Amino acid sequence: MKIAVIGGDGTGPEVVAEGLKVLKAVAAKAGFDYTTTDFNVSGERYLAAGGNPAAPSIPVISDQEIAQLRSYDAIYLGAVGHPKIAPGILEKGLLLRLRFELDQYINLRPVRLYPGVETPLAGRGPKDIDFVVVRENTEGIYTGMGGVQYKGTPQEVSTQVNCTTRFGAERAIRYAFDLTRRRNSKKKRLTLVHKTNVLTFAGDTWFRAFGEVGKEYPEIEKDYNHVDACCMWFIKNPEHYDVIVTDNLFGDIITDLAAMIQGGLGVAAGGNINPKGVSMYEPMGGSAPKYTGQNVINPIAAIAAVGMLLRETGQDKGQPKLVDAGNKVEAAVMATTAKMKSQAAGRMGYSTTQVGDLVASAL
Ligand code: IPM
Ligand code: MN
Repeated sequence: MKIAVIGGDGTGPEVVAEGLKVLKAVAAKAGFDYTTTDFNVSGERYLAAGGNPAAPSIPVISDQEIAQLRSYDAIYLGAVGHPKIAPGILEKGLLLRLRFELDQYINLRPVRLYPGVETPLAGRGPKDIDFVVVRENTEGIYTGMGGVQYKGTPQEVSTQVNCTTRFGAERAIRYAFDLTRRRNSKKKRLTLVHKTNVLTFAGDTWFRAFGEVGKEYPEIEKDYNHVDACCMWFIKNPEHYDVIVTDNLFGDIITDLAAMIQGGLGVAAGGNINPKGVSMYEPMGGSAPKYTGQNVINPIAAIAAVGMLLRETGQDKGQPKLVDAGNKVEAAVMATTAKMKSQAAGRMGYSTTQVGDLVASAL
């Protein structure tokens, strides 16, 4: 397996180093070969190359680098974000660009409360919080369609188009049904989350696609929530959920809420997935500049992202050994969180590198 590694900015390289430590340990254990190649892509490099911190001026990642990434089996990303660079430049220039160009049409976010991890939901434990959000990742309001007219005048008009296609909704829905089918859960329930009471055009495209594709999955319970109600149920009855499928923006918002109920950004991992192409796995937290170089940041999310990388790559490429390796990493993560004092940076009871060692030895 060939893995491209983008450590990125701030604490990104530190958490990625722990993920790679665990990868090395699990490869020896599960018996697979891999290579890693570092890609120097970051906000820091953008600035060093003369990029304008206030407006996009030079590419954050070059066409040539994107072409190279296409030849890998997976990408492992730490964090890209720089306090001196205006919002939008790195997000559009790297993350969204890779999602669109590599057609990573699924954003997969497992939401699982690991043993010993504190949730803000009173009286809730690991058996209550265990679901997966499948977020459509290439459409919706993220396409950048729209524009601004009469800018800077009292007549300013801006439009931001929600681009929903039947094709895009359907492939996300199908992926979610397949995932519900193979997931090791007794619920076998797929919840569509949208806002069909107001978004009567886009919502209806999703709703009809869900109903029609759903006929191919008779054993799966079809469930629907409006997105606002879904936020309410995440807090009140998180145990209801098994798998959720939703559009890009709703998925962005509910997965941050979900990250909090699973114990915060120190533990939440995600994947930008093209099941037939090159997928990218990452911890959900940012570059956390203030903790850089102190060996205090939590690497659990980055290590869990390695587990996802192995499991999903194995799943998509039909390699059971990798699926098994991914499951082993998750089990080792769960053995480790149970020993940690907290999932917050600097309060774990261990340093960043010690947490990586604990996971590696739990393997
Ligand atoms: C995420 C992030 C991104 C998003 C940002 C950084 C563009 O919040 O992966 O959820 O909105 O999708
Ligand atoms: Mn987000």
